[in-house]
Amino acid sequence: MAVQINPSILSADFARLADEARAVHGADWLHVDVMDNHFVPNLTLGVPVVESLARATDTPLDCHLMMTDPDRWAPQYVEAGAGSVTFHAEAAAAPVRLAREIRAKGARASMALKPATPIEPYEDLLPELDMLLIMTVEPGFGGQAFLDIMLPKIRRTRELIGKHGLDLWLQVDGGVSAATIERCAEAGADVFVAGSAVYGADDPEAAVRALRTQAEEATGTAGWACAH
Ligand code: DX5
Ligand code: ZN
Repeated sequence: MAVQINPSILSADFARLADEARAVHGADWLHVDVMDNHFVPNLTLGVPVVESLARATDTPLDCHLMMTDPDRWAPQYVEAGAGSVTFHAEAAAAPVRLAREIRAKGARASMALKPATPIEPYEDLLPELDMLLIMTVEPGFGGQAFLDIMLPKIRRTRELIGKHGLDLWLQVDGGVSAATIERCAEAGADVFVAGSAVYGADDPEAAVRALRTQAEEATGTAGWACAH
């Protein structure tokens, strides 16, 4: 599967979201961080902003829900126009039922793991998902330093995907930049969220292109990708 680069609008200017969405033309998805001030100590945006963004851009929306009770709220983000909805494993009461509901409503279903949450208990659940998100920082804020200690979890997850022959995207989010994206790709990630590395750049479109080139080259020489 091809590398995908998803700029996170958390690092964009929230007063100019439509322009900021257009500033990353060529990105595969726009990553939209929804934070509820309960699951994480930060508050961002909700359904009405997602609805407006979906109208303002042709780039599909990848909504990352950092909230408690996603079982109740996540389906509304599909209705708001998200093409992919990610809930947190730590917050979902019934992840299988929720993933099925998201898919039934017509979006890709994705589940996220905080740094201290292992992948192994979720092995049997992976066929229910279209994407798994491995957080490479503690969720809540942009601009944090990448956690190298997550690389073994990315590797183990890629092995599980191969073992079960799944068509499951593996996303990394947090501290992904020119300095870290190659390590993520080499370990097995194929969808890369980048906030400050894209919106903090003088030319966000060029930053997306550069990250894509780096990730593609690293994937090209990665053992996990060569075997397929
Ligand atoms: C953090 C968010 C990330 C954030 C990443 O909790 O989930 O999507 O925007 O920002 P950077 O790329 O700056 O670490
Ligand atoms: Zn995110």
